[in-house]
Amino acid sequence: MLREDLDRIDTVPMLPAVVGRIISMVEDPSVNAYDVSGIVSKDQSLVSSILRIINSAHYGFFSRITSINQAVVLLGFRTIRNLALAATVMTVYGGSSKEKSFDRAEHWKHSMATALATDLVAKQWRKKLVPDAYLVGLVHDIGRVIMDQHFPEEFDQACALGDLGSASLVDNELQVFGLSHADIGGHVARKWNFPADIVTSILNHHGPPPNETWTPMAALVHIADACVHEIGIPQTNKQIDLSPEALELLGTDECGYQEMVEHISETFNQTDIFEGLVA
Ligand SMILES: [Fe+2]
Ligand SMILES: [Fe+2]
Repeated sequence: MLREDLDRIDTVPMLPAVVGRIISMVEDPSVNAYDVSGIVSKDQSLVSSILRIINSAHYGFFSRITSINQAVVLLGFRTIRNLALAATVMTVYGGSSKEKSFDRAEHWKHSMATALATDLVAKQWRKKLVPDAYLVGLVHDIGRVIMDQHFPEEFDQACALGDLGSASLVDNELQVFGLSHADIGGHVARKWNFPADIVTSILNHHGPPPNETWTPMAALVHIADACVHEIGIPQTNKQIDLSPEALELLGTDECGYQEMVEHISETFNQTDIFEGLVA
């Protein structure tokens, strides 16, 4: 696939309309908590998916959250928007894989682990970005699922190349598609009206293009992704190339990274990190 064939990616379906309405409401200063919970409550499967994530060990609420109203008040609009996006993407793309060597359940485990890891990395190095970190981590590799779902033949070829040798996953994708999973995921997230910083983070999570620099959010998810691979989720995958520039932007180094790997690993060992998995 060549870059001009981005048009083909535009055939990827939109997310359910309710999600678009939630995104625009969050940006509207006149909207209040009741407006947001009113829209979310119209979609009962979305309600149960959001409550499931909120009641997972990660959020650690003392008592169970049972209504969206309560959730909006406790967590704020932005978090509810992000959870609505997260839950919808996982529901729409949580089905079984089309390509035999790609395991979508494993993919979502990696994504869930990266979501939690990005949250931890943000808490350490960019507290201001914590509200969006979970969502960015969850969808950073959505391009792989888009390929599997909508372009199975090309994805099959790219995966087969992976069996042959040393080239990275991104190189294999570029060879077959002309685009990487990061390009495809970013493009589709933009079409779905995801916030601009989240789109950039998906596009650049393996590194920015030559004329651009790392954004803080892209650097956070890049480091979280590297940590999760190092911890072995998924077990079979290769390590990813960690960028020293991303570490430098966040004011840390290889030593800080190794401490973060340990911190994330310990946190994962303490709780069932896949408890909130919708797929
Ligand atoms: Fe990736
Ligand atoms: Fe990843």
